Amino acid sequence: MKLHEFARHPLTFGPSPLQHLARLSDHLGGAQIWAKREDVNSGLAFGGNKVRKLEYIVPDILASGADTIVSIGGYQSNHTRQVAAVAAHLGLKARLVQEKWVPWDDPTNDKVGNILLSRMMGADSRLDDAGFDIGIRDSWKQALAEVEAGGGTPYPIPAGASEHPLGGLGFANWAFEVAEQEKQLGVFFDTIIVCTVTGSTHAGMIAGFAALEEATGVRRRVLGIDASATLRKTRDQVARIARHTAQLIELGRDLRDDEIQVLEGWAGELYGIPVDSTMEAIELGARLEAMITDPVYEGKSLAGLIDLVGSRDIPASSTVLYAHLGGQPAINAYHSLWDPSASR
Ligand SMILES: Cc1ncc(COP(=O)(O)O)c(C=O)c1O
Repeated sequence: MKLHEFARHPLTFGPSPLQHLARLSDHLGGAQIWAKREDVNSGLAFGGNKVRKLEYIVPDILASGADTIVSIGGYQSNHTRQVAAVAAHLGLKARLVQEKWVPWDDPTNDKVGNILLSRMMGADSRLDDAGFDIGIRDSWKQALAEVEAGGGTPYPIPAGASEHPLGGLGFANWAFEVAEQEKQLGVFFDTIIVCTVTGSTHAGMIAGFAALEEATGVRRRVLGIDASATLRKTRDQVARIARHTAQLIELGRDLRDDEIQVLEGWAGELYGIPVDSTMEAIELGARLEAMITDPVYEGKSLAGLIDLVGSRDIPASSTVLYAHLGGQPAINAYHSLWDPSASR
């Protein structure tokens, strides 16, 4: 099936806005930098990248007759918050497994931000001590079994909606949205920068831009910046989901290796723990553009962008698109990083 033949349940306001980051571009003195703002794309509880993926999954949820969506993430998962939002929007229940993915011992970590919003929206959000892993988890399978044992009909959505068969379609569609906006604005983005962890955001973009390349003959680079700190797993997952999504949308050829690029260098040692480059990027984005990024995801991909533009690995002649995927609610749990009475 071609992409436009897949059912899509609209959850976004429409195309997400494009913003020229003129002050950041001037500061770095190289490529022109734009952002596409998935953090302001939906009326559902602050939106973000998962809303895009869920647009293509909701028709399957509704067709399944399920009454409870079961999903999984860390305590401060943006994904589970967006699942809770979509469940509320559809009048369904949400059962969320929230694992201790980040050894961040702030006492607010399991109380504020994303988890607070999920609970506010009525999700049954339960904590689990297990650490970070982007794969399929026993705790999630157990939650599915519990819903069934309680007489409910669960609908399973794995971490980040990435291992879901339709998980890549949302960002394949994003590529076509970008192409439309380029026409309207008279710009061309030769390089896309995107944060990658569970993989289907980046993978969907790879498949979508490959389909555009087939249609137009124009190549561009879609660079994933790893924020998982488990690079091999994320790379494998991106490649697998990109190839699967390419097949789903009938790309008609295999993806080239140079189309699947996950770059390392900005994740630090551990998922969810910011490093110096993360903090510098967050502060540069906030102070030059009032663009807020978080210490788990977008602060790390912004750090990658800043270094690649600053070092001219992305040449000064480029026009770069930074995919801002959301994530701001989590910053509440990281308040101590900006506590004026604490030294850093
Ligand atoms: C704000 C934010 N940015 C980036 C990502 C990475 O997206 P993906 O898991 O599809 O690789 C996520 C989710 O994991 C996220 O919530």
